[in-house]
Amino acid sequence: MENIALTQLGQLVYNYCGLNYLSNLPSLEAKVSKRLQELNVTLWSYIKILEESAEEWDVLMVLLTINETYFYREDKQLSVFQHTVLPSLNKKHVKPIKIWSAACSTGEEPYSLAMSVLDSGIYSSDEVQIIGTDINKKVLNTAKGGTYNKRSLSFRRIPERWLTSYFYDNPNDYQIKGEAKEMVSFKYLNLLDDRSMRSESGYDVIFCRNVLIYFDAETIKKVATYFYHSLKKDGLLFLGHAENISNMGIGFETISTDGTFYYRKG
Ligand SMILES: C[S@@+](CC[C@H](N)C(=O)[O-])C[C@H]1O[C@@H](n2cnc3c(N)ncnc32)[C@H](O)[C@@H]1O
Repeated sequence: MENIALTQLGQLVYNYCGLNYLSNLPSLEAKVSKRLQELNVTLWSYIKILEESAEEWDVLMVLLTINETYFYREDKQLSVFQHTVLPSLNKKHVKPIKIWSAACSTGEEPYSLAMSVLDSGIYSSDEVQIIGTDINKKVLNTAKGGTYNKRSLSFRRIPERWLTSYFYDNPNDYQIKGEAKEMVSFKYLNLLDDRSMRSESGYDVIFCRNVLIYFDAETIKKVATYFYHSLKKDGLLFLGHAENISNMGIGFETISTDGTFYYRKG
């Protein structure tokens, strides 16, 4: 493939969603080549299609995003969320509590948050709203369905009692049931889309884990600043353990506790 065209595609992708393939163009090439064959077009023609078609961007996001996730991921954070954060929100915050799982992939993260809420026994299901968002429409469909193959890696860390309490045990899959399902809704959202990000507001807690690792420092700061404005005063932000915004001067206070850390809006 032509290097100049590949670089141009890398730049378009970076501008669109923050994913930085500019430093790994062979990987970008490998991921789009099948699509070019399907459409029977050159890379230059494909770039032209992207300039004119929002639908093609949806196809490309399915090809380029990495969607690995599983229930009860980063258990220390979920334990702090359940045993420290949820009780403190109950005292201070107006109901319903609003929680955002940003870049939720196939839904294991927001459903894990719902199960933590139910496990805490502090809230009825209508006192908490959990919203999962992602840029990949295919994973969002799986998330909305809430049904996961038993042999998938989704269950590699889930506590056994969660499986029995919060899932239907079907022959081939586990299916989220009842209140855990009803507490969570899903929608498409691009973390780099200025208008969409500015219209997200009033959150008590945001989880955005294992996506900023794919962004450069400039994009991380931009996205974390959107989150800052989307949170209520004293609202909390949980990032993945490899994602650190402490020194970016955004205004978050870092809270380190129980072998993990998260951020509070000052
Ligand atoms: C590795 S998964 C993380 C899922 C979950 N948060 C977790 O920690 O298990 C990263 C997700 O980020 C999404 N993503 C990447 N860029 C995005 C963007 N610009 N806007 C929204 N979602 C994005 C991908 O589609 C993917 O589902």
